[in-house]
Amino acid sequence: LENYVINGNRTLNGEVTISGAKNSAVAIIAGALAVDGECVLENIPAVGDVSTILQIFEKIGVAVYHLSDYNYCLDARYITSSTAPQELYRKNRASYYILGALLGRFGYAKVGVPGGCDFGFGSSGRPMDYHFKGFEALGAKVTTSGGWITVESNGRLKGARMYLDFPSVGATINIMLAAIHAEGLTIIENAGMEPHIVDLANFLNSMGADISGAGTNTIRIRGVEKLHGGTYTILPDQIEAGTYIAAVAGTGGDVIVKNVIPRHLMCFTTKFEEIGVTIENLENDVRVKRDPMIRLRHTNVKTAPYPGFPTDMQPQMATLLALAEGRSIVTEDIWDNRFEYVKQLQNMGANITINNRIAVIEGVRKLSGAPVAASDLRAGAALVIAGLCADGVTIVDDILKIERGYENIVAKLQNLGADIQRKTSTIAKKAIKTGANAA
Ligand code: EPU
Repeated sequence: LENYVINGNRTLNGEVTISGAKNSAVAIIAGALAVDGECVLENIPAVGDVSTILQIFEKIGVAVYHLSDYNYCLDARYITSSTAPQELYRKNRASYYILGALLGRFGYAKVGVPGGCDFGFGSSGRPMDYHFKGFEALGAKVTTSGGWITVESNGRLKGARMYLDFPSVGATINIMLAAIHAEGLTIIENAGMEPHIVDLANFLNSMGADISGAGTNTIRIRGVEKLHGGTYTILPDQIEAGTYIAAVAGTGGDVIVKNVIPRHLMCFTTKFEEIGVTIENLENDVRVKRDPMIRLRHTNVKTAPYPGFPTDMQPQMATLLALAEGRSIVTEDIWDNRFEYVKQLQNMGANITINNRIAVIEGVRKLSGAPVAASDLRAGAALVIAGLCADGVTIVDDILKIERGYENIVAKLQNLGADIQRKTSTIAKKAIKTGANAA
């Protein structure tokens, strides 16, 4: 049983380099299935979710060449089978992008029901109705049975105009992947505007697709017959950058967060400034400073689709507010249940009350180290931040959930002066067994 063991109460200083964006990478890797040629993808992060999708690729006959650390060549010209074992699909969320990519290109795709962070949906899984409505609008038939999702069309898909009920990231991406090969024009209204949606559109356009308006709420896709190969570099990870900024905001210190697009971070850096963190936007870097002797200030935060405050930064922000002076209110407006980690923070001494999607946080001066468990990826990141700020030792369990989306988090934090190690610990095992801290 692997854990992170953190000795808290140290400031962070130095430089940290941000990896390629996980949520871009998984969409663009799936996008390579829509390409009739070799795709060289650069800046692919070494995270669990990427390895899962590449394992699926190997099973379905995509040639995967690992060129060097972060660079891959993917060649989906000779796909042999369109399915892999169900448990592989269940290991992450993004495996469902395979549906859109293969449906558009071949008129048929079958994947296992995807997994990913739970957020309260339990065994029913996170909904996909917007994806299905989009595929159907393009003329496909969707069936689900026995843990499989099958999409098929009779001939080429037909472009259509559609309005999403909510600017869903996943539905926007999946519909875009299918529509690039549809006949005629597809218009997605109320589309997601996240940077990784723009990244996917730029990738597909560089391979010959005709997509305009990505980054606004109306995306227009004129179908093409084929995409050709090429080379594309994935964006830096907005949320990984935000997580390190939040860590410095919590511990205090002075860190240059390198290889970022500062404009993509403004949806949360302005909030960090509001609570007393100094942010200096440089060209491709952000400098974060916080005097550890001065307490953070309270604020209110409500999550929203981009360019609003990202739900994927909500647990990290709430952790900072748990230490800020005064009362803060955090409202989660994307997911039904994204406050699982609060129980863990309470075990560390935080004073937080949850009422459905609203957390009322009364800031405390200090958190104390405790054994805790990551309930999901960003919750895990928040607990690491809590441990870095706390007095004493924090043991974070269930860290594979964290490593699904954070490359080398231990080494990156150690390099900034954090006392964190990846270990096998019997103490955390005991805590889990007694259920004392189970998420
Ligand atoms: N929704 C539906 N039906 C659908 C699709 C979504 O009701 O068919 C609802 C969801 O239940 C949710 C809302 O719409 O309430 C937004 O979901 P969205 O589709 O935007 O989320 P997603 O595509 O499943 C991606 C990220 C998540 C991130 C959300 C919101 C990936 C692989 N995942 O999920 O990232 O929280 O967008 O920004 O891109 C993470 O990285 O930790 C993570 C969970």
